[in-house]
Amino acid sequence: MSSTAYLKQNLLAMQLREVAIKDLLMLEIPTDDIYTYKDGEFFVCISQGSAIKKETLKDLLRQKVKNIFVHSPDYNIIKERLKNELLRVTRSLSVGNPIENSKRQVQLLSQNMTELYKDPLNDENLKLQYQCTVNLSKFLVEHRNVLTDVYADLVHGNHHFTISQPMLTSLLVVGFLQHFHLFHEKDIEMLFITSYFKDLGMSFIPDEQLNKKDLDKKERKIISKHADNSISLLEGRVPLSRNYLNIIKNHHFLNHKIQATYQDNGPAPANKVLHGLETEVVAVMDVIVEMISDRPYREGRSLFK
Ligand SMILES: [Fe+2]
Repeated sequence: MSSTAYLKQNLLAMQLREVAIKDLLMLEIPTDDIYTYKDGEFFVCISQGSAIKKETLKDLLRQKVKNIFVHSPDYNIIKERLKNELLRVTRSLSVGNPIENSKRQVQLLSQNMTELYKDPLNDENLKLQYQCTVNLSKFLVEHRNVLTDVYADLVHGNHHFTISQPMLTSLLVVGFLQHFHLFHEKDIEMLFITSYFKDLGMSFIPDEQLNKKDLDKKERKIISKHADNSISLLEGRVPLSRNYLNIIKNHHFLNHKIQATYQDNGPAPANKVLHGLETEVVAVMDVIVEMISDRPYREGRSLFK
């Protein structure tokens, strides 16, 4: 690579911002070139001024393009339009087809959640996420017949697993609790919201670490702290009471028990903390979603297995 090309690449690294492929639909016509990153270099994959259509995105996926980078002005347009579209869909959830509306809202929430993971201290975005999730929880509790379709649509949504995992768990929690008529509707709504925000602390962990199969002890310890980090990020910023924050704090108690059993070659230690049924439901649904979902380092198992 010539020195000029080298400098250009370094300049691009400082100027570009990463977005998801599906975010590009919000842009329609880019004001600057759009890049992908391969073998240590940025390449133009969509030229400035070209109309972006669904077919454009399908082409990128066919070429197995994974990383997309845009200049700041286009990035800001995408994020603003994404927020406005999320608000519009949230406000009109009850108008039209309930399945299509809730699928769309969950996809937009997940796209927007990616932004919150990049900047978890952004109060405006956290408030938007919370308000939209409250609306969605009420809608899903009233329309339980949409849960299966929404779940399947999100699985195929190409979101990072840290984004899809909490929402998939929330969908299972609603389905499970409604099936057994164990809780009042308001409680189910609150558990949906609690489960959705429980992994926000994952935003402190770099992708490279999350995508690794074999983590060392130190890396495992950092990941195991994500529930505490979620509490630090949420406490005082969202209207979740202490009971719900405690569910978030303890949502991996089951994993810790299982790990203790295998690592020590002996029985799991007795519980020092009593966990309520709500915590157990969220924890078990979270484990089920984790086992049946694909990860960068392994394929998900079938529910039967
Ligand atoms: Fe978690």
